[in-house]
Amino acid sequence: ARLVVLVSGSGTNLQALLDAIGDDPAAYGAHIVAVGADRSAIAGLERAERAGLPTFVRRVKDYGTRDEWDAALTEAVAAHEPDLVISAGFMKIVGKEFLARFGGRVVNTHPALLPSFPGAHGVRDALAYGAKVTGCTVHFVDDGVDTGPIIAQGVVEVRDEDDEDALHERIKEVERRLLVEVVGRLARHGYRIEGRKVTIQ
Ligand code: GRF
Repeated sequence: ARLVVLVSGSGTNLQALLDAIGDDPAAYGAHIVAVGADRSAIAGLERAERAGLPTFVRRVKDYGTRDEWDAALTEAVAAHEPDLVISAGFMKIVGKEFLARFGGRVVNTHPALLPSFPGAHGVRDALAYGAKVTGCTVHFVDDGVDTGPIIAQGVVEVRDEDDEDALHERIKEVERRLLVEVVGRLARHGYRIEGRKVTIQ
């Protein structure tokens, strides 16, 4: 399967996919054909360039409207003809055109146990709430924010001494493994989405 990966920051989820694919994409069942971002000068793009992958940046502020940005992102991703689009720490909500084009084929990873703590600060919100366990969720993207059908989840204990960074790092350790496992299975076995139920063949 052809993967386009979208990033907004350090790109450690992207790196985990790159390391899992390694020099045997056939065994993994997928290979990354391009990496896109909503901003430049981020480690995620450096990781892509180090891996010799094509990259593209589409910044919201370069477009008159959000819909124009959405159309430009859709076109940039479509140029690489992905089978799956992996949102790995991509911090923008994709719009109608993107979902019309790639709906049902966009996988997102979120650092909380959805439906708890959706949005841009899932780790901070779980900590502030006093949750005793949190974790990460890999799900298909729908037209909501972190509301699409869940594929897999991983649980992480919250420790008394945790601050946001410490907890997020521990979540990311689980998240990277979960994302690599899920993407490989989706790519190798195919899947069906019926309502909120995801079946991997
Ligand atoms: C991940 O925890 C992702 O779920 C969240 O931000 C983090 C991105 O990490 N949205 P990285 O850029 O993959 O290192």
